Amino acid sequence: MKRQEININEFCLKPFKQFDKDWFVLTAGDFPASLFNAMTISWGSIGIIWNRPMVQVVVRPTRYTYQFIEKHDTFTLCSFSEEQHDAMSLIGSKSGRDGDKILESGLTLIPSKEVAAPGFDEAELIIECRKIYWGDIDPQHFLETDIHQNYALKDYHRFYFGEILHLEGADRFSTRS
Ligand SMILES: Cc1cc2nc3c(=O)[nH]c(=O)nc-3n(C[C@H](O)[C@H](O)[C@H](O)COP(=O)(O)O)c2cc1C
Repeated sequence: MKRQEININEFCLKPFKQFDKDWFVLTAGDFPASLFNAMTISWGSIGIIWNRPMVQVVVRPTRYTYQFIEKHDTFTLCSFSEEQHDAMSLIGSKSGRDGDKILESGLTLIPSKEVAAPGFDEAELIIECRKIYWGDIDPQHFLETDIHQNYALKDYHRFYFGEILHLEGADRFSTRS
């Protein structure tokens, strides 16, 4: 897939469609050390904190990927075209604990430009991030009771802010085009 580096001030994204409908694959860990795992995500946000460009993602402690995002400093978010929908569904339904789901997905791992966590060659957009903050969702702070429905197992997410260190994508993700 042809991608170009994108300046953060020229970055174009439809954040609601991107997270909710198109999803991302989150990959955390260290590619050179062969210690990483990937999972699909559809909850998160993107913006500015502490004057830094950031993404915020939420990971339940029950995910295998949790061990990697906890232990390692960096992660990537990759967005794909409709063609890769089945691969994303597979990565979001099987666990890396039980086998090599990345191999099964048919996606191709590639080294990132600025971080140890890998990306995917088929991605239309790759966001490379370094963790700068984490916190745990506290159910005592839910101000709408129906939020509890998301946590039948009480496996409250841990959230992470990742500073965006490098962005690359297809032309449609840049105002330059
Ligand atoms: C569309 C979609 C969105 C998902 N979003 C999230 C999410 O935001 N946070 C999360 O913890 N799990 C999310 N999941 C579930 C994980 O991707 C799934 O449990 C995955 O199999 C975990 O893999 P792992 O055990 O290898 O880490 C989502 C799954 C799908 C299919």
